Amino acid sequence: MSGTTSQLQVDGKTVDMAIKTGSIGPSVIDIGKLYAQTGMFTYDPGFTSTAACESQITYIDGDEGVLLYRGYPIEQLAEHGDFLETCYLLLEGELPTASQKADFDYRVTRHTMVHEQMARFFQGFRRDAHPMAVMVGSIGAMSAFYHDSTDISDPHQRMVASMRMIAKMPTLAAMAYKYTVGQPFVYPLNSLDYTSNFLRMCFAVPAEEYKVNPVLSRALDRIFILHADHEQNASTSTVRLAGSSGANPFACIAAGAACLWGPAHGGANEAALKMLEEIGSVDNIPKYIAKAKDKNDPFRLMGFGHRVYKNYDPRAKIMQKTTHEVLNELGIKDDPLLDVAIELERIALSDSYFIEKKLYPNIDFYSGITLKAMGFPTSMFTALFALARTVGWIAQWKEMIEDPSQRIGRPRQLYTGAPAREYAPIGRR
Ligand code: CMC
Repeated sequence: MSGTTSQLQVDGKTVDMAIKTGSIGPSVIDIGKLYAQTGMFTYDPGFTSTAACESQITYIDGDEGVLLYRGYPIEQLAEHGDFLETCYLLLEGELPTASQKADFDYRVTRHTMVHEQMARFFQGFRRDAHPMAVMVGSIGAMSAFYHDSTDISDPHQRMVASMRMIAKMPTLAAMAYKYTVGQPFVYPLNSLDYTSNFLRMCFAVPAEEYKVNPVLSRALDRIFILHADHEQNASTSTVRLAGSSGANPFACIAAGAACLWGPAHGGANEAALKMLEEIGSVDNIPKYIAKAKDKNDPFRLMGFGHRVYKNYDPRAKIMQKTTHEVLNELGIKDDPLLDVAIELERIALSDSYFIEKKLYPNIDFYSGITLKAMGFPTSMFTALFALARTVGWIAQWKEMIEDPSQRIGRPRQLYTGAPAREYAPIGRR
């Protein structure tokens, strides 16, 4: 309850610590004065029991499988809204009215082009560079191209930087793709909606007319909604930590993208598809289930398990439906990877190892199959995740910058290295 305290006994001394209560979800014990009062830190590697900030943006109930953006269930947003509406909601806190939505769409659309010199900047990357390497580099490079929106103390510049990143991320992601396949960059077309424009920038070529498939565009837009924010995950925490030092927003989002790239986080969709390809056929599943359960084998079922969800990831349910829609639209009747995925899910969900550890499919389990069917190579999957998560990173960064109690993030440690010792000259070591 709000206003109540908890007590901790350390070395015979009792320390009172306030309990703070949110609107929903677990309360927190405020340990901010613990070190001053006891000379001790708390120890929580991986932050499994630590709330690093107060936030009003996204709420997850991992036991119930609930995900809310600003209080709205993800299922309703994915069913009824579009990605730019979700962007507005995450940034502004409320769903837009029709005129606010039209104005927001217009403003984002007018920022879709990138500085022409960025095209030359891209030429510095090797052709076979991973698109995420190109993304991390080019997002960071935006601070070199858009100096006029790097002053974080100016609310107008913060807003301009936010719009620029939401608008330009599809352009950069499409350029990263085109660069690796050796095709010319396709300029944005502002008469198209956000996601259709992205599909066109990825798949159109100057030699042919390209018509966006509305079913695929809607499906990808929904995938973007599902990825838009996820509370204080590793990449978002990275953005907040980077931003807490006052670094410019482009640098902070580049840091978030770098963190997202790891296979335990945003890289899992790529890893999940590679795993399904490696398993190859339903007959091989038992072997891989056994490997996943073997403590001496580092193999894990990619796309399974989550730090917060101890129930079916609500995004995975919507994703699974979207997978079927996309495969139907493309006339893919028998996708062997889908067969493997469905059977793998069925076996894992009835296996005591996965039941006891509450390991369920997460969003990445089905997203790879869907994106592959749409024509994206596996190396682009995490770049698409970064594109969609950009708005979440920005909303969280903005919330932090605008919080008057914000201070630089500075965790402490339990030191277990050598105690103080004398330097020995090189000849006496
Ligand atoms: N396959 C087999 N065993 C697993 C798996 C898995 N995918 N995930 C967790 N476990 C086991 C793990 O070995 C451990 O067992 P024990 O208690 O006997 O040591 C137990 O379950 C708890 O795992 P943990 O690693 O302590 O849990 P965590 O919260 O630190 O890790 C995770 C969460 C997502 C990193 C992990 O489940 C994992 O590596 N999953 C595969 C990668 C993946 O799909 N990541 C995408 C996450 S969703 C997208 C996103 O938000 O980025």
